[in-house]
Amino acid sequence: MTKYEYVDLKYCPKPSDLVAKYRIVPNGIPIEKACEHIAAESSIGTWTEVCTMSSRIMNKLKPHVYDIDKRRGVVKIAYSSELFEEGNIPQILSSIAGNIFGMNALTSLKLLDVSFPKKIVAASPGPAFGIRGVRKVTGVSKRPLVGTIIKPKVGLDSLGHANVAYNAWVGGLDIVKDDENLTSLSFNKFDERIRLTLKARDKAEAKTGEKKIYMPNVTAEAGEMLKRAKFVKAHGGEYVMIDILTCGFSALQTLRDANLGLVIHAHRAMHGAITRSPEHGISMLTIAKLSRLIGVDQLHIGAIIGKMHGSGKEVLSIQEGITAKTVNEDDKRDVLCQNWYGKSPVLPVASGGLHPGHVPGVVKYMGSDIVMQFGGGCHGHPGGTEAGGRAIRQAVEILEGKISLDRCPELKCALQHWKNK
Ligand code: 3PG
Ligand code: MG
Repeated sequence: MTKYEYVDLKYCPKPSDLVAKYRIVPNGIPIEKACEHIAAESSIGTWTEVCTMSSRIMNKLKPHVYDIDKRRGVVKIAYSSELFEEGNIPQILSSIAGNIFGMNALTSLKLLDVSFPKKIVAASPGPAFGIRGVRKVTGVSKRPLVGTIIKPKVGLDSLGHANVAYNAWVGGLDIVKDDENLTSLSFNKFDERIRLTLKARDKAEAKTGEKKIYMPNVTAEAGEMLKRAKFVKAHGGEYVMIDILTCGFSALQTLRDANLGLVIHAHRAMHGAITRSPEHGISMLTIAKLSRLIGVDQLHIGAIIGKMHGSGKEVLSIQEGITAKTVNEDDKRDVLCQNWYGKSPVLPVASGGLHPGHVPGVVKYMGSDIVMQFGGGCHGHPGGTEAGGRAIRQAVEILEGKISLDRCPELKCALQHWKNK
């Protein structure tokens, strides 16, 4: 029988271990051998024995491959928490999601899920607001929050942007957000846009008597991003939005650790390059758990319905990962056991190709503790942005039992307009 260094199917993970779950396609070698490569390269080993290794290091730090499901190619590895620098997300990823993705020993590798031990969870701030905090800031206690993304994605000038935002708020939406690629462009400068749009927010609040939220996109190089976030705060903003993957986890940590008292809305642009292949990459669930650890308050997780890829099973498992207090491994949604030790749940954001007719379906699948975002599904309404906002809010009010369809002309029009979408 072959003697393996890291494969130990009798090993029982300790509560202090970090557990990673991978799907592996070995490149012409037995799965156990492939596991050995992964365990070594992600922790203390390399491709050959080295004279600098000692049994002391080995015994103290070697990870254990304790579960191998040969049929599905799914394996679990337990890592000693001493291998990780607490609070350093890039370092954790350089270990469990680093060189191993490029090894010749594997045809493909997907990091499916991670379970963090208490030491790592406790060292990270987690969400400052989370679902409860967002409900407090927005003043919306039960129903789903509804918002729009200004469209066209980029192209409007600052004043045009502020005017469209005003119309959306007055129509009945709670939230207006910048699109992921709108930052500070020659025809729409960040500072001016923030000033004008926050002014429009105040006007919309005065007109409607409702709380209105603006989520400006501060995505930029980390220093610049922080400057922009401070500008938002100084001008009476309560939220910022960041593209967490294009900015990187380090920049996200910088933003969270600055503790500016701003709600952090996380957009996942670029995630498909990393998450979409079922065989290779990093799952959205893993990215979502890392985001909760770092401390985003809201996160795009897919909408099940609409234009973005992502099955119901996948979206619901991500929702579980960012909202549950504690998840058990046996859970039917297949999320690794995780105790969040009091870290607040993150508010899931459903967005991408949604229109008012999708509201009941999204709520049926995802519940009411969500934000629903509509870009084309608001500004594409035949009556314009304000009518689009009205139609979306009417769809929510029907679910709340506050109104019936015959009293919702804008919603009726939207249902007719998008009946084939
Ligand atoms: C987003 O950032 O979520 C998208 O821009 C959504 O836009 P859409 O509703 O037009 O697809
Ligand atoms: Mg967008």
